Amino acid sequence: MRIAFPALQKHVAIALSTITFLSIFILSSADVFAQPDGKKLFKGQCASCHYPSEKKLIGPGLKGVKDRWSNYDNLKSWIRNSQNFLKTGDSYATALYAEYNQSVMPSFDLSDEEIDAILEYANTPPVVAATTTTDTASSGEAAKDDSGTLLYVLLAISILFIILISVLGGVNKSLKNLINQSNGLPNEIELPLPEAIKAWLSSNKKLTALIVVFLIVGGIRTGWNSLLGIGIYTGYAPEQPIKFSHKIHAGENGIDCQYCHSGVAQSKHSNIPSANVCMNCHLAIQEGPAHGTKEIGKIYAALDFDPVTGTYGNNPKPIKWIKVHQLPNHAFFSHAQHVTAGQLECENCHGDVKNMDVVEQVSPLTMGWCINCHRETQVKMEGSEYYDEIHSRLSDNLKEKFMKDGKITVDELGGLECAKCHY
Ligand code: HEC
Ligand code: HEC
Ligand code: HEC
Ligand code: HEC
Ligand code: HEC
Ligand code: HEC
Repeated sequence: MRIAFPALQKHVAIALSTITFLSIFILSSADVFAQPDGKKLFKGQCASCHYPSEKKLIGPGLKGVKDRWSNYDNLKSWIRNSQNFLKTGDSYATALYAEYNQSVMPSFDLSDEEIDAILEYANTPPVVAATTTTDTASSGEAAKDDSGTLLYVLLAISILFIILISVLGGVNKSLKNLINQSNGLPNEIELPLPEAIKAWLSSNKKLTALIVVFLIVGGIRTGWNSLLGIGIYTGYAPEQPIKFSHKIHAGENGIDCQYCHSGVAQSKHSNIPSANVCMNCHLAIQEGPAHGTKEIGKIYAALDFDPVTGTYGNNPKPIKWIKVHQLPNHAFFSHAQHVTAGQLECENCHGDVKNMDVVEQVSPLTMGWCINCHRETQVKMEGSEYYDEIHSRLSDNLKEKFMKDGKITVDELGGLECAKCHY
């Protein structure tokens, strides 16, 4: 009977550790091989314009949208690049676009599975259907919470496991000592901690291998996930020093984007207009609909302008606008290339600025986002003498190679070469 104790205890230890590891594995692999998380994707990328119900927001409610489209592939093309899809002349899409006053939906870099998951989520609306815009702002954190919980569960299990090992180890030792005493043998030798660990590892090879595999899988997964998430600020909409509204200016008053962002067609950066540009109108317009003289007064303060006497002082200070979009320094991006040569609309990348009171980043600005558009976007060549000339010189051989599908995409012009985008 006394001999049976340690044996029993060893079995219990093996059983317990197997259960613990199995549950850790199931928990973590469930996440590794999981379907894309429709809720997370929806909240992160679509919720600023769509409800997962029938209610309209900036765009239509997405519940049941699959039934409204006769062809699922078309629907996917629309979600990936609505502006491109409109060029096919599809009557449903054209009518929808007109119905929403030609509000432009930004392009999305999503896989088939991700789109499936998003639409699935939109079809099974959550209990509280109406998410508000403030809700969306915090959705990034909400998404992080989900994976956070999993991490805590894993951590709790691991701690439990360590406690178990040490308790069982202790029990094991005292039992052994008991047996030794009754057999008249000396006590077990107390090994220093590192050696004790070594001894434990070598006497539990299978378990050790399992732990190592688990740590590697977990490490790779965490590393990969954090790499994918690095520097994505979709939904970033900082409050600005003056409550300047694009909705009032570019939307309701129809002021052209390039009236203020006048450098965007010729240069790499799009300029933010100086306060003098504001004065073209605000010399006369001294009150706004929502904030009276308070916000417009800040333009005057910046220019040290006195609206009563109409004179400028000599103490102007620039308005400190907070930058919304920001690529890392190692990436090269030129507006002129896209707006002038590429003939893209601002909305392709910046979303529906005309309806924003506060500018929000709607595109992820990741490398994948750039590349995906370069793969899919056909370069507009009609009416460009530059490209007409090139075409007339292309040998049949090259025409065969590049224009097999009747179009040339940005990547075929070299738009995927690292050096084009990296210094
Ligand atoms: C910046 C706003 C905006 C965002 C973000 C946005 N959409 Fe849209 N979406 C629209 C607008 C506006 C329309 C209506 C058509 C139009 O004017 O382009 C639309 C239309 C649609 C339609 C067609 C609806 C119908 O009734 O047939 C689908 C599907 C759709 N969006 C899916 C998505 C998905 C999926 C996402 C997220 C990955 C998304 N949208 C993100 C603005 C947006
Ligand atoms: C009356 C002048 C005016 C017009 C017209 C205007 N903007 Fe702006 N825009 C600004 C000012 C001022 C800022 C800086 C404050 C802010 O971010 O709201 C800005 C900021 C932006 C930003 C964010 C820049 C950043 O920091 O990343 C984008 C994107 C933008 N505008 C796009 C547009 C587009 C697209 C249009 C046309 C639909 C447009 N703007 C029309 C004045 C204007
Ligand atoms: C081309 C004319 C024009 C220019 C340029 C212009 N605005 Fe305006 N702004 C307007 C109009 C029109 C209104 C709305 C007045 C109304 O509806 O009563 C307005 C309203 C405003 C308001 C009041 C908002 C409110 O709800 O109270 C602010 C603040 C403002 N503009 C800031 C700016 C800033 C900052 C600039 C320069 C970056 C600028 N505007 C450039 C025409 C212009
Ligand atoms: C909405 C689609 C779209 C997105 C998003 C986009 N591009 Fe482009 N890009 C184009 C098009 C179209 C052209 C081709 C312009 C032309 O005709 O030269 C182009 C051309 C370029 C070129 C010149 C390529 C060459 O062969 O000379 C560079 C560099 C570039 N893009 C960088 C970027 C970077 C960096 C990003 C992401 C931050 C990005 N682009 C995002 C559509 C896009
Ligand atoms: C192909 C995608 C694309 C298009 C089209 C585009 N932008 Fe941008 N925009 C970007 C990116 C990417 C950044 C961030 C650039 C950076 O940090 O270097 C940006 C930044 C900006 C900024 C902040 C200042 C700056 O240059 O960093 C403004 C303002 C702006 N865009 C306005 C516009 C306007 C107005 C249009 C249309 C005339 C437009 N953009 C068209 C992708 C685009
Ligand atoms: C069309 C433009 C474009 C091309 C082509 C491109 N990159 Fe990038 N790359 C970017 C942008 C934009 C970022 C910044 C993304 C971010 O901040 O999330 C980036 C980021 C990176 C990073 C940093 C890691 C990260 O995801 O932030 C590395 C490494 C990188 N690129 C390597 C490459 C290599 C290697 C190639 C050639 C095979 C290449 N890139 C081609 C636009 C491009």
